[in-house]
Amino acid sequence: MLKTLVVYSGKYGTTEEIAKIISLIAGPARYCTVDNFKEEYRDFDFVVLGAPIYEEKLEQTMVEFVKQNSAWLNNKAVAVYCTCLDTNGGLRELNNLAFENQINFLNLKALGGRLILDKLDSDDKVAIKDFLELVKLPNEDIDFYNKAEVIKFALKLKELKEELLEKLDDEKLLVMVEEFISSHNTCCLATCHDGTVRSTPIEYNYRNKNLYLLSEGGEKFSNLLLNNNVSVSIYDSFEGMNSLAGMQITGKAIIIPETCDEYGEVIEMKGLNLESLKKLPVNINLIKIQVGRVEFLYSKFKEMNVDTKQIVNY
Ligand SMILES: Cc1cc2nc3c(=O)[nH]c(=O)nc-3n(C[C@H](O)[C@H](O)[C@H](O)COP(=O)(O)O)c2cc1C
Repeated sequence: MLKTLVVYSGKYGTTEEIAKIISLIAGPARYCTVDNFKEEYRDFDFVVLGAPIYEEKLEQTMVEFVKQNSAWLNNKAVAVYCTCLDTNGGLRELNNLAFENQINFLNLKALGGRLILDKLDSDDKVAIKDFLELVKLPNEDIDFYNKAEVIKFALKLKELKEELLEKLDDEKLLVMVEEFISSHNTCCLATCHDGTVRSTPIEYNYRNKNLYLLSEGGEKFSNLLLNNNVSVSIYDSFEGMNSLAGMQITGKAIIIPETCDEYGEVIEMKGLNLESLKKLPVNINLIKIQVGRVEFLYSKFKEMNVDTKQIVNY
């Protein structure tokens, strides 16, 4: 599994808060301040740097850290963010950092920060007045921090990290994914809409890159009818870190009417009789899930000298 290291600086906590969110989403990860950086962290696979903008400059301990570690960073996959009130100025500083240290960042992002005047030390209380006047912002508390924007950025970083995975040949991977799906018969189907979530253990069959699930009905349909995006887990029970086996599937759900040929074909595939099924006192509903993406964590991949996590986009 590829590991993410988030190194950050900053005095008033917003850059740290963002570092923690990135670590959660782009994990396995460790976050640390510039001052707490340790030599043993150099073998992390993906590095994210984060620092605030103070008085139109990227925070100085981070600038120094990058200067001193530019050789190491040049050989790493690195992304960088800053926390600021003027995102144009922030982005300019990040580009300067890249240029001055000749680092090809995979992503540069200026994120909205916060200003809480009561929290500032006496020097900063003076300094901030000049900045606020310069950018024509009122001399009062300002909150440009946007959690949704931070999470979107963290998901982008996760995606960038996944591009670094040592990959198995596409055809071989698909065979292994399909073998795993076909050798199991029960999944956990997650559905949601607005504030409602539902996780349902349910039997499935796999056919032509789709999962088929029979159901007498229930609350999951209240979600499916409003949002057809679903997530499905199929997994082995945990027996140790060296025998991990589980996948997360994302896909689109469709309810197949009884009158469709496909309904009959699936019933036949399951060894059931369509006419007997229709005579049951209740309707038997068929959910088809078109698989879009499979994230497969499988310790067996290690023996094949590739990453234990592999991703297939169908
Ligand atoms: C003394 C001081 C100077 C600042 N100067 C700038 C600036 O030049 N440009 C900017 O966009 N934001 C500026 N800010 C806003 C900070 O970037 C913002 O408050 C950020 O969230 C701070 O990060 P932190 O909470 O991690 O310390 C300044 C803040 C302080 C306290």
